[in-house]
Amino acid sequence: MTKPMPPITTAAAANSLALPAAEPAVAPVFLPLLERVQAVARLVDAAIAEDLCEVSQPELRRAVTYLFEGKGKRLRPFLVITTAEAAGGALHDAIPPALAVEYLHNLSLIHDDLMDGSSERHGQPTLHTRFGLSLALLVGDLLYAKAVEQASRIRRHALRMVHVLGQTAKQMCYGQCDDLQFERRLDLEVQDYLTMAMRKTSALYRAGCMFGMLTADANEDSLAAMATFGEKIGTAFQIWDDVLDLQADPLRLGKPLGLDIREGKKTLIVIHFLKHARPAARARFLELLGKRDLNGELPEVIALLEETGSIAFARNLAIEYLVEAKRHLAVLPSGPHRTLLDLYADFMLQRRH
Ligand code: IPE
Ligand code: IPE
Ligand code: MG
Ligand code: MG
Ligand code: MG
Repeated sequence: MTKPMPPITTAAAANSLALPAAEPAVAPVFLPLLERVQAVARLVDAAIAEDLCEVSQPELRRAVTYLFEGKGKRLRPFLVITTAEAAGGALHDAIPPALAVEYLHNLSLIHDDLMDGSSERHGQPTLHTRFGLSLALLVGDLLYAKAVEQASRIRRHALRMVHVLGQTAKQMCYGQCDDLQFERRLDLEVQDYLTMAMRKTSALYRAGCMFGMLTADANEDSLAAMATFGEKIGTAFQIWDDVLDLQADPLRLGKPLGLDIREGKKTLIVIHFLKHARPAARARFLELLGKRDLNGELPEVIALLEETGSIAFARNLAIEYLVEAKRHLAVLPSGPHRTLLDLYADFMLQRRH
């Protein structure tokens, strides 16, 4: 499955692009959220470190430790834990399901980097690049087993959580398969992208909210509403991930820009462009899409995508998803945790990496 990628380093890519001189800092309104995300991340990381102590084989231990010592943002465990707290659950109870979600997420990143032929993540070599295919596969297997283990730790919901975990892993598998097959297609509609993103990314956000609500023993109606909240913000997250691939500071993003273009990915932006571009612009874009050694041409690609307003289109659709998502927060009692979830939704389109 691994496709050879030219050795483009983040630093080289950064040098080859005209970057904005100074990136605006995150708006002060998000600071309490970011502080809380970091505090929760410290708890989650401590729980992960403890959980991984049992891995006795040095190579496997080194590989899995490398993975979790990377700069993962731990956005999903925060969602599980804060949803549980907002619905009246205890933070401590939500840690095992938060770990289950983070394990499944990291497993999906290992496989994603293999499938996308990505050699860099978080500013360092990807797991398979650093440790080879066998250990990357083993860490993936280990993480799935550990996710099941953690999902079954809240005894009264063990069966339900393991079932949700399995359903979610299947969806992610189908979504990643769509993502790969779309590389070869030029006839895609916006709806095709939304279905693919729902499977590969939103399903896990949805599961994270469900886990939080189950931890708090919430009723079925509010659980369903929060599942929808998770799904909608997950879609906005993926759309914004695609935008960042074109517009972020690569040093902060921890990988070169334009990987989606080099890989021939049919992001929402690309699908919109292909439908609305002038024939000459479309033809030029198709010459560049999938060009593995694309580098100096990236500004041209971005200019083409901007000509049709495709980046703005994606951003606006992500905003619509967030507006719709936030309506569902009304099922939670108002209070500081609901406010954090509201901010978290807005943060989906504020993040820079
Ligand atoms: C990246 O997710 C994968 C996508 C679904 C786009 P994150 O950006 O949340 O990855 P980490 O956890 O911070 O590494
Ligand atoms: C990844 O999508 C989605 C997953 C479920 C792993 P991407 O391929 O866009 O993720 P990044 O950009 O490599 O993190
Ligand atoms: Mg991918
Ligand atoms: Mg990828
Ligand atoms: Mg991406």
